[in-house]
Amino acid sequence: MTLQTLFPTLVKHARLDDDALRKALEKACWVLEDEDEAGNDWCDAEGYDGYTSYASLDDLPQRFPEFADLKTRLDAAAAGFARDLHWDMRDHALELDAIWVNILGESGTHSGHVHPGSVISGTLYVSIPEGAGQLKFEDPRLTAMMAAPQPEDDAPETARRFVYVTPEDGLILLWESWLRHEVMANRSETPRISISFNYALTRK
Ligand SMILES: [Fe+2]
Repeated sequence: MTLQTLFPTLVKHARLDDDALRKALEKACWVLEDEDEAGNDWCDAEGYDGYTSYASLDDLPQRFPEFADLKTRLDAAAAGFARDLHWDMRDHALELDAIWVNILGESGTHSGHVHPGSVISGTLYVSIPEGAGQLKFEDPRLTAMMAAPQPEDDAPETARRFVYVTPEDGLILLWESWLRHEVMANRSETPRISISFNYALTRK
């Protein structure tokens, strides 16, 4: 008797192994928070608990050399993830079509969502205090499991409906954009700073 594992959901854990760049990015995040009036207005209007450049700025790699450097590294990580997924990329290329800053204050959250229009999404954790909210991933088959019982308390991660990843400085997570995820509440008074991104598929 054997058990096959079919249709796995991959989440790539990579690292930004350059502390100087990470700290320079953190500085740039605070410059944006200080100077991006449109972004701050959007956060006030939407009740965002902190600051995000998501709705206001779409050119961070052009504005800051630190973000240009990060883009080069993320491009390589995304290409590697496409190989991990065994995607046939002969006629396609991955293009960074969004990159934005998130500074979440105490008790700040981001409710469950997917990233439509992209194929790979992810986050670099720039500055993560003790007690910062975890990232919660949701089993994409949840809506098809109405009659199945809950997994046992000690079920392995692969059998769970929800999996929580604890962020830390320099961690880069990548996942397929359809995978629903949620940022749990920041339980620290210190802001939780991250940079999120989307890759779209283009024709070569
Ligand atoms: Fe997200």
